[in-house]
Amino acid sequence: MDIILLGPPGAGKGTQAQRLVAEHAMRQLSTGDMLRAAVKGATPVGLEAKAVMERGELVSDEIVSALIDAELTAMGPDTGAIFDGYPRTAAQAASLDEILARHGRKLDHVIELEVNEDALVERITGRFTCARCGAGYHDVFNRPKVDGVCDVCGSTEFKRRPDDNAETVRTRMAEYRAKTAPILPLYEARGIVSRVDGMGAIEEVTAAIDGILG
Ligand code: AP5
Ligand code: MG
Ligand code: ZN
Repeated sequence: MDIILLGPPGAGKGTQAQRLVAEHAMRQLSTGDMLRAAVKGATPVGLEAKAVMERGELVSDEIVSALIDAELTAMGPDTGAIFDGYPRTAAQAASLDEILARHGRKLDHVIELEVNEDALVERITGRFTCARCGAGYHDVFNRPKVDGVCDVCGSTEFKRRPDDNAETVRTRMAEYRAKTAPILPLYEARGIVSRVDGMGAIEEVTAAIDGILG
């Protein structure tokens, strides 16, 4: 099964993708995570993406579609894909169709996380992740069970994203409204869009998504 998690910055795409991976035989394909890894490794892609990401703007369609294509090539056909933060433009949606067809795969669900944008700034500015395994946390909503220790891997080092400041978040939201939200009708026409209330507790959102996946 291949699904897209769609929603503005802070909607919970990454949080839910990590939870689905733990429960189902699926893999999280986050273009944001791939780009951050490229920035960290100072690869050619990373050098091109760094400043764009810090401004909260979108990286080029060619770069992100190539990253997704490479990941799917490396993945077995029996592992489901959770697209997290991709596609984000009409051009990326068209590329995804072409890439999936070439890999003999098809999209089963597009799940839109419906959220109140005013609450998202608080979610984003409180976010941190484990520096070793990438598990996601929040200062208020999702703290590690033992303060300062990652639940998953036991690491005591955490990090915050450079684009998680109130000003950059506004640009990221504007990019979502202008370029990403308009791709929904394309999937609606195919009858594969489901909406989930993303304002509930993390476990409630997961239960709603599980209900859709069946
Ligand atoms: P990306 O990494 O995709 O960031 P984003 O879309 O802005 O989304 P976030 O990761 O901020 O939010 P999320 O929905 O994953 O929320 P999370 O689960 O962490 O992209 C970053 C940048 O990379 C882009 O700006 C762009 O430059 C570039 N890029 C990436 N993909 C691209 C593409 N396809 N094309 C072009 N450029 C691309 O949750 C947030 C916080 O809230 C967490 O702390 C979490 O614990 C908490 N939380 C989650 N759910 C709940 C809940 N239900 N209740 C309470 N708290 C919650
Ligand atoms: Mg994310
Ligand atoms: Zn960890």
